[in-house]
Amino acid sequence: METGSSFWMPAQASTFAGDVDDLYFFIYWLCVFFFLVIAGGTVLFAWKYRRRRPDQLASAQITHNTLIEAAWTIIPTIICIGIFAWSFKVYMGLQVAPADAAEYKVVGKQWAWEFTEPDGCQTYGELHVQADKPVKLLMRSEDVIHSFYVPDFRIKQDVIPGRYTGLWFQAPKANAQGHQVFCTEYCGTSHSDMLAKVIVHTAEEMEKKAWCETKADAATGEKLYKALCAACHTTDGNRLVGPSFKALFGRDEKLTGGATVKVDENYIVESIRNPMAKVVDTYPPAMPPFPQLKDKEIDAIIMYLKTLK
Ligand code: CUA
Repeated sequence: METGSSFWMPAQASTFAGDVDDLYFFIYWLCVFFFLVIAGGTVLFAWKYRRRRPDQLASAQITHNTLIEAAWTIIPTIICIGIFAWSFKVYMGLQVAPADAAEYKVVGKQWAWEFTEPDGCQTYGELHVQADKPVKLLMRSEDVIHSFYVPDFRIKQDVIPGRYTGLWFQAPKANAQGHQVFCTEYCGTSHSDMLAKVIVHTAEEMEKKAWCETKADAATGEKLYKALCAACHTTDGNRLVGPSFKALFGRDEKLTGGATVKVDENYIVESIRNPMAKVVDTYPPAMPPFPQLKDKEIDAIIMYLKTLK
């Protein structure tokens, strides 16, 4: 387990994860304390002042006690103001990115995440950042509302069509496995498959940027498939939002309207660039176009499809 992970919380992997957790656990233990005082007091008094004899009369009714009433008003008010001031400080730290933060663009769409690095390198399903450097995300959606959530960093922000929203973080330690990203706004059929990873690199790895070179091979195609296509297309023959890719290449597909098409390279390019041109029969016209995919990346996807017998 990494630093700070517990039964309640995942690892603390950003500079402000500790602050968020301290505030959370302060409120948590405060609630536990008052729960025990109130629930314990209720049980204790119910037992202590129970009616002992059938003919016992109720004791004198107390109408009020100014000291106790003032205490239970003033003390919680002070605690609430304290929680507000503390939360406000933590919240502002989460909201205001340092001026020297590296700016990344993030696009959410049904059902994948796309990232553009400051130098223009594009990645899908993987956000590559440098350890110990502030990173700012400028985010938008191409369709419905999504939400970008990284539990290890304690950050979450809605991603909205027609407007930019932002987030920032700084991850102190390199992490090759990556930190899980979830979409946390219900956005349709494959919402729960709208996943990504934040991979944190050392300065040397960042220098090389190995992930930016696209190789036209089946392994690259498989990575792209997992990041962009897997939410809607299986490789095991099962039906999801779209047709399965199992043994897709070379087969004849029946289209909406009755025509038939042979699945070859040109059909796949067309389906990625302009998905509405030929919709497979019995499937909804649900696929968004992927104009930003490079030809080389489409080559890689085709090579991967050919391996799915
Ligand atoms: Cu995107 Cu839920």
